[in-house]
Amino acid sequence: MALNKQEIGRALIELRLSGMAATLDTRVLQAQASQQPFMETFCMLLQDEQDLRRSRLTERRFKHCGLDERLSLTDFDWHFNPKVPRQACFELHTLKFIAEGINGLLIGKPGTGKSHIAKALAYQATLQGYGVRYVEADSVFAHYCLASPAEQTKLLKGMLEADLLVLDDLFLARRISDGAAELLQTVVHRRYKLRRSIVVTSNRIVEDWGKYLGDHTMSTTILDRLMHRSALLAFEGKSYRLKEAVKRLTSAAAT
Ligand SMILES: Nc1ncnc2c1ncn2[C@@H]1O[C@H](COP(=O)(O)OP(=O)(O)OP(=O)(O)O)[C@@H](O)[C@H]1O
Ligand SMILES: [Mg+2]
Repeated sequence: MALNKQEIGRALIELRLSGMAATLDTRVLQAQASQQPFMETFCMLLQDEQDLRRSRLTERRFKHCGLDERLSLTDFDWHFNPKVPRQACFELHTLKFIAEGINGLLIGKPGTGKSHIAKALAYQATLQGYGVRYVEADSVFAHYCLASPAEQTKLLKGMLEADLLVLDDLFLARRISDGAAELLQTVVHRRYKLRRSIVVTSNRIVEDWGKYLGDHTMSTTILDRLMHRSALLAFEGKSYRLKEAVKRLTSAAAT
């Protein structure tokens, strides 16, 4: 028995083919207007379904990864701080480092764009189908130390299982608690064994990390594993935040 268009639409929804259902009217009109062969129309409908599924999957990955914004390298002003290692940033942006289990350490002066680049890498990785976990280091450490054992297991699992972990603004508050240092050690050790990449951003020079971790042996083992198989990118220059603040002040003074 032939179905009419509404009934076909309902059947598609029932079969959870909402991408096809959404474009059915348009594709039928298009086929009638151009006397398109059936197979061509059918291929287009299939493509519509696939497109919708892919974009939903990407959206879900983005929602779960912990990023609060979708940054890219195109919104980055490379002229502002010419010493920012542009080639190395683009190289990381190819995401080859994830497949190779290499870490990215983005270290340098405040406001020079380390977090921006790290977020852009994380976002690009979600678009490319990788499982990503982005965390602000201090807040995840604080959260972990106060969490119940069940919550701690869940947090740790998320940080271990992702293809890419971004630890943003590490040591922002300088000294970290013993519990936080242990978490960092576990995460770095386990991911190192699994050859899973970590991107760390910090405005504290690596030589000082031992001071913030408090325990020399622990800091050596963490650093050792982070630095072995890693790309170290130094960010030098002036703060973009200050530039923005000056711009705001100037425009406020002018009004
Ligand atoms: N060259 C740039 N072009 C465009 N925006 C930039 C640039 N550098 C930094 N920004 C913007 O300035 C703000 C601060 O940059 P970001 O947070 O990346 O700095 P950071 O190096 O991580 O600083 P901190 O060490 O204090 O964490 C962000 O909103 C970021 O998007
Ligand atoms: Mg930062």
